[in-house]
Amino acid sequence: MQSSFLPVKAICFGLGSLSFRRPLSQLALAIETFHMFRISRNRFAYDPVFQIQDIELLKSLDIDVIPPDKAYDYTVRETTLFYMPFCDAVLYEAVLRANWSAEMLGNVGILGNNLSSYVERNSKKKMKREFPCIFAISDYLDCRPLPQNFEADDTFSDLCFTTFSISRMPDINNEFWECIGFDTLLAELKNLSIRHETTKG
Ligand SMILES: C[S@@+](CC[C@H](N)C(=O)[O-])C[C@H]1O[C@@H](n2cnc3c(N)ncnc32)[C@H](O)[C@@H]1O
Repeated sequence: MQSSFLPVKAICFGLGSLSFRRPLSQLALAIETFHMFRISRNRFAYDPVFQIQDIELLKSLDIDVIPPDKAYDYTVRETTLFYMPFCDAVLYEAVLRANWSAEMLGNVGILGNNLSSYVERNSKKKMKREFPCIFAISDYLDCRPLPQNFEADDTFSDLCFTTFSISRMPDINNEFWECIGFDTLLAELKNLSIRHETTKG
């Protein structure tokens, strides 16, 4: 994966319960990716389904679990790789919305689902209403798909490494960058977490 994007921090969202094969394989790829980018400190993770054994496993791999009261702050303060395999669209929307300027998106890289596929699969009306930032940014994605040669092919399918084509983006004063509220989205995210927590096995 050739890239001029050099993250100094990594955050894994939505890995799931690490007692299962698929999240564990995704964790293995996260560790490899951190090595590749030489991120040896500043490695974090959060998933509302984590249990004590998940937290201990992550700690042994030098990944700190973010406490729930800090896990909904998506604003980047340094170049950050978000590792988000198969996260719900609302989580991608939150990362974009919290960093909604060309300058900040320049510090964001996402290893996760192909954001264009949400736009391809849903109506324009639904995307504009529910995921306005995913919709707006879809013309400015620099998306490199992962090789599809893993034996359990549902584990990494549709994943790609996404950065943003900052130089092609509209000017800072363009209405493209108008602020979009975060409060409703935050409430939706917290409901989603509760739903996942209550269904964890
Ligand atoms: C569709 S599952 C994907 C799990 C795993 N990555 C996989 O591919 O099987 C989405 C995951 O996102 C997690 N999640 C929900 N809300 C979250 C939040 N606010 N922050 C981080 N993870 C969240 C859920 O608990 C769940 O494990």
